[in-house]
Amino acid sequence: MKNIVVLVSGGGTNLQALIDAQESGAIQNGRITCVISSKEDAYALTRARRHGIKTRVLQRKSYENTDLYSEAMRRALDEEQADLVVYAGFMTILGSAVTTPYENKMINVHPSLIPSFCGKGYYGLHVHSAVLERGVKITGATVHFVNAVCDGGPIILQKATEVKSGDTPELLQKRVMEQCEWVILPKAVSLFCEDKIKVEGNKTILL
Ligand code: GAR
Repeated sequence: MKNIVVLVSGGGTNLQALIDAQESGAIQNGRITCVISSKEDAYALTRARRHGIKTRVLQRKSYENTDLYSEAMRRALDEEQADLVVYAGFMTILGSAVTTPYENKMINVHPSLIPSFCGKGYYGLHVHSAVLERGVKITGATVHFVNAVCDGGPIILQKATEVKSGDTPELLQKRVMEQCEWVILPKAVSLFCEDKIKVEGNKTILL
């Protein structure tokens, strides 16, 4: 049974999707053992506590820079004996102190079809605003491994949805979450825990 540690910063609807999947038996061979938040007031913490999941707060603002924060995060992940680390709306970039020892053990859900609308500055509603601004007709979500390149690691799963006329960033975010993120994140977590993801260079093969 793999220990899954979920990193959060905000509302935690993706965490909720993982908790629901766990409770319905959709996650094979893994369980969420700890939720770590970069913000002490993140609603995601309430969701975790309601389901009896251990929580920790590691505030980004308590550390002078990314390197010191990353060191502290690595220590926390080691203490939790994390086999899989899931960024679920985690809005802080971590440095090599984490990305190197946890290479191919950390996954992120991003609210666009990578390589479109990703990288520095593309997070949360900004992504959906940029999608509407560009006028693309299809968008979606991507689950990928985290490496040193922001949103650049091997892609595990993607799912698309339509952009509709009259969409606002908020409406589009809701559709992408409901139809894409909440579907592919639990699926990718289960695939990982079942050892069904093989990484070859910057690609994955699903077994
Ligand atoms: C989600 O849409 C997630 O994909 C996005 O932030 C939202 C968090 O919602 N993450 C990023 O943009 C990371 N680059 P949640 O806290 O309700 O899961």
